[in-house]
Amino acid sequence: MPDQECTEQGSTLITGIGELVTNDGDRGGFAAMTDAALVIAEGKVAWAGPASRAPAADAVVDAAGRAVLPGFADSHAHLVFAGERSAEFAARMAGRPYRAGGILVTVEATRAASDAVLRANLRRLAAEMLRQGTTTFECKSGYGLTVPDEARGLALAAEVTAEVTYLGAHVVPPEFAADPAGYVDLVCGPMLDACAPSARWVDVFCEDGAFGADEAAAILAAGRAAGLGARVHANQLGPGPGARVAAEAGAASADHCTFLTDADVDALVSAQVVATLLPGAEFGTRQPFPDARRLLNAGATVALATDCNPGSSFTSSMPFCVALAVREMGMTTEEAVWAATAGGARALRRTDIGHLGAGARGDLILLDAPSHAYLAYRPGVPQVAAVWQAGRLVAGTGSLAARA
Ligand code: NIG
Ligand code: FE
Repeated sequence: MPDQECTEQGSTLITGIGELVTNDGDRGGFAAMTDAALVIAEGKVAWAGPASRAPAADAVVDAAGRAVLPGFADSHAHLVFAGERSAEFAARMAGRPYRAGGILVTVEATRAASDAVLRANLRRLAAEMLRQGTTTFECKSGYGLTVPDEARGLALAAEVTAEVTYLGAHVVPPEFAADPAGYVDLVCGPMLDACAPSARWVDVFCEDGAFGADEAAAILAAGRAAGLGARVHANQLGPGPGARVAAEAGAASADHCTFLTDADVDALVSAQVVATLLPGAEFGTRQPFPDARRLLNAGATVALATDCNPGSSFTSSMPFCVALAVREMGMTTEEAVWAATAGGARALRRTDIGHLGAGARGDLILLDAPSHAYLAYRPGVPQVAAVWQAGRLVAGTGSLAARA
């Protein structure tokens, strides 16, 4: 029964796995086994263990010694936008600094775009992510910044992911330049009312040039009162209150964390806020990379995400972020892969993804490589050979031999 339909409907045994990353150890961190097999049934992982003890299944895939990992959980992306800013990137590489104000260029293009253009761009990026092994992604609004444009962005995001984030507080739009308090009232009032039904999360860019501590706290409190979980863009461009605001708000995640004081690190650890590091943004802005080693040594939970957006980080590639984290941020290959899978799941407060224990969602990737380390060892090389999402083979190789 080699055909695709049988594979999707019945159980599938993937065997001959050289390294199976399960993230399912007793101690909660990276865990893997060699010479392994895994069974997917009804959209979930039904069994994982030594290949020699694998149960029978309706179809069999031979991994031929290659590695299988949980699908990546990209917990930070801005995918609803129109236009592009390659000239701004080129200017930065020629020495011009990154400023939050570039966001308004994309706001203008996004407001002017039709639903069809925004949807096509969003779906293209979502497909690009899937091909690179991302089986769950978060998606923010934040390039509309009017009530109808933010509501539209979130409705579009909700078409492609369950992890939808209201980021009306990205920057103050030009029409409120003289009245930023009025914009915060809009974000906490009518805009939130229009957006909350499509969203799971509220986010705020807490930074010089965007929103201050009191504004951010008010926006997160309003979002939480509307049933949304909190996340914060914190300490990206310089030291500031973002991490502390995230801790005080009980946020799931503080994202960027590039400029942290020791007190910020302590606050994140004691409030159990995930520190989500976005090395694509430091790559794309020539900022210093965040110090993952320092956070890990302090006991923080670290996640990696792409921050995919047309300004600071126009990459959709979690493998690229893993490679940067290992090379530039002091992470081991195990820590980086955990952060890109289980860490992202923690940042989204999800227990069904990011690991491959029995009962987990059947979200997994087959690498064209014998171990997870190859993600950093062979940077820039497409190595994701196949992707299963909720147990279905959704991307990758026709060369997978499935047999009854
Ligand atoms: O996460 N920091 C704020 N927002 C984005 C950048 C958005 C843009 O430049 O368009 C970020 O880096
Ligand atoms: Fe961002």
